[in-house]
Amino acid sequence: MPTDGWTTVVVKVDPSEVEAASALLWAHGAAAIEERSTAGPRALLLAGYEHPGPAADAADGAEAAGYAPVRVEPVTDDGADAWREFAVPERAGRWWLVPAWLEPPTPGDGERLLLLDPGRTFGSGSHPTTRLVAALLDDLVHPGTSVLDVGAGSGVLSVIAALLGATPVVAIDVDPASPHAVRDNAARNAVPVAGHGAIDASTRSLAEVVSAAATSDEPSTFDLLLANLLAPVIADLSADLVAAVAPGGTLVVSGLLADRWQATTDRLAPLTVVQVTAEDGWVAVTLRRQVTTAAQNPRWTR
Ligand SMILES: C[S@@+](CC[C@H](N)C(=O)[O-])C[C@H]1O[C@@H](n2cnc3c(N)ncnc32)[C@H](O)[C@@H]1O
Repeated sequence: MPTDGWTTVVVKVDPSEVEAASALLWAHGAAAIEERSTAGPRALLLAGYEHPGPAADAADGAEAAGYAPVRVEPVTDDGADAWREFAVPERAGRWWLVPAWLEPPTPGDGERLLLLDPGRTFGSGSHPTTRLVAALLDDLVHPGTSVLDVGAGSGVLSVIAALLGATPVVAIDVDPASPHAVRDNAARNAVPVAGHGAIDASTRSLAEVVSAAATSDEPSTFDLLLANLLAPVIADLSADLVAAVAPGGTLVVSGLLADRWQATTDRLAPLTVVQVTAEDGWVAVTLRRQVTTAAQNPRWTR
């Protein structure tokens, strides 16, 4: 059943055409554009329009510009899941991020499988910003590492962290669908959904998590913070993100553009950048809080 006139235009493009095709789709009034990889070299752009008229104009414009094939689909309860037929297993470091409805690949030596169904949340593994962070987790998570995943979406990063032995793992997101998706994906990968080792998934805000520590058993700071968010959101949350990193701890921010990430990470001082990884024009930046020694902090000298 179509819902409220919302319409999706789906365009298949070469990687070199993504920017120009996106500009064309935005120019016709797209409310959002999502880029998805396919089994082949080409990418899918899914542009959402509030009304069918602008969507039809955008599709005509895309066809006139030589992009093909172009599809126009009313958004339906089923249509919102149309991307599922194009989903493929994705690699992130030694992890295979596998859509749960597909036959999993046979993992090679040292490779691991993560089965994922994001439902309507973000975090299928199809986006570079997710894979960039997932690929870093083997180096950053050890048994007992405490993890706070800010903007957990499907829980993809939290579940990998839990599988690597992180505890506690706290997963927060403003999206009310996220906690259910996190628990679903935890169960799918044999991470406990209650009791010891379970991921604490909720829609609490970062500020609430930071301040709750004063009145509960939760840690006040975490060894590792994961924040795959957009630049303006990271900027808004910067003070609380910094406050939640333990001495010697690490913050990974992702969702930043390769040509302008420094403006965002400058706001995360005194954390310092220790690594930048990049894919398809996106970067993930790893920052660390130095451990303050007595010699560096005169208040501690006797
Ligand atoms: C790019 S997705 C990342 C999902 C998943 N962590 C991944 O790596 O694929 C960003 C997520 O952040 C959530 N989000 C946006 N603003 C937020 C905020 N202020 N606090 C917490 N979550 C937020 C969105 O709902 C979305 O699920």
